[in-house]
Amino acid sequence: MILPITSENNQNGHLVIGGNDVLKLREKYGTPLYILDIATIKNKCQSYRNNFTFSDLDVGIIYAAKAFICTAMCELIAREGLGLDVSTGGELFIALASGFPADRIYFHGNNKSVEEIRYGLKSKVGYFMVDNFLELETLGKLCEKNNTRQKIMLRINPGIKANTHEYLQTGEIDSKFGFSLSSNVALEAVKKVSQYKNLELTGIHAHIGSQIFNILCYSRLIEVFIKFIREVRDKLGVSITRINIGGGLGVKYTPEDKPSSIEDLAKIVYDAVREYQKKFDVSLDKLYLEPGRSIIGNAGVTLYKVGVVKKIDGVKNYILIDGGMSDNIRPMLYQAKYYAYLANKMGDSKNTEDDRKIHYSIAGRHCESGDVIIDDIKLQPVSSGDFIVVATTGAYCYSMSSNYNGQPKSAVVAVENGKSWVWIKRQTYKDLVMGDVKLYEN
Ligand SMILES: Cc1ncc(COP(=O)(O)O)c(C=O)c1O
Repeated sequence: MILPITSENNQNGHLVIGGNDVLKLREKYGTPLYILDIATIKNKCQSYRNNFTFSDLDVGIIYAAKAFICTAMCELIAREGLGLDVSTGGELFIALASGFPADRIYFHGNNKSVEEIRYGLKSKVGYFMVDNFLELETLGKLCEKNNTRQKIMLRINPGIKANTHEYLQTGEIDSKFGFSLSSNVALEAVKKVSQYKNLELTGIHAHIGSQIFNILCYSRLIEVFIKFIREVRDKLGVSITRINIGGGLGVKYTPEDKPSSIEDLAKIVYDAVREYQKKFDVSLDKLYLEPGRSIIGNAGVTLYKVGVVKKIDGVKNYILIDGGMSDNIRPMLYQAKYYAYLANKMGDSKNTEDDRKIHYSIAGRHCESGDVIIDDIKLQPVSSGDFIVVATTGAYCYSMSSNYNGQPKSAVVAVENGKSWVWIKRQTYKDLVMGDVKLYEN
């Protein structure tokens, strides 16, 4: 599935999502427009809950807010019963402002400032995901000073290479994240925790990468984790019973993509837990996952209006859209691939896969030649005034968006059961100067 699960075509040949004709959404909210299908988000949350129910192992599903966060998304995640991974004071603020229960918040970040650590403690977040010795020390001392207890998990760098783009690999030996398993750094970290009597070590965490298709690396991660837990018990007499294997499950961006399902992931994870608990004589009582992309990615699309269609004879046909790298930086950042549809000609006899005969490059309106959302896609003939929908833009698009070239950020609209409403308002030109001050003070 590339488009959201509620997608269909109506008799006018328009794309319909969540019971809403996207051209009507365009009339109401303008373009570029992020459209989020609530049914798809709920479906993914449910799929995680259902597939990760095991009789002998408790599982906690934590949504990774960095994929997409706003007040409404936090509210939805809270209702779905998931935890929330935040990675900065800013994300923590959004979560708390939405009323998200603090005890279900997992506070990540590889370089938390002292202010952020204080903020997390004051807010009584459930868990600090401690990345490094400085954070451990700062947190330990602050807890002692304030006479408060805090649950923590240690982020471990397991030295595992995930099969994905190098910028999306986060568990390799040279990664900036976590305590390395090599040279006993992670073991030292566990030892150090015991110096701080107000810190309660509840488990270990790793996130080895994102948009992972070959999910066997999770089995390897679980093996490495359980082996380490055994080592910790043998060498330090410390018992660790919880592991957090991070997020990373890949999603479908193009017809060629063949991601594993949540069900496949659950099976691999459960089999590995059983096998390695036995092998290393270790007993876990809880496992956590932190999916981001696989919950929100396929729920989102971006609707653009086609402006200029430019033909460079014998070289390239450009479709120039009214957004671009300011609302989706991923193709430029790590060559991410996307797929698109002509939203106003979905049901046309000319819109079958066979009628996609012309090669186009879908480019944005920004002052960079690299501002290309899809470098080469076959479509039926496209004209100025048509509408392009780019699929799978729910994750890491709005959250990485910018005001480059003074482009106001696009609105985010939620759709469900024929209704639509704004989750995030479109910025105006005035918003662009909100924080600006004059050249001199007086
Ligand atoms: C610590 C952590 N957990 C979870 C995630 C979510 O990953 P994904 O969106 O690929 O599921 C990330 C993403 O970078 C992460 O850094």
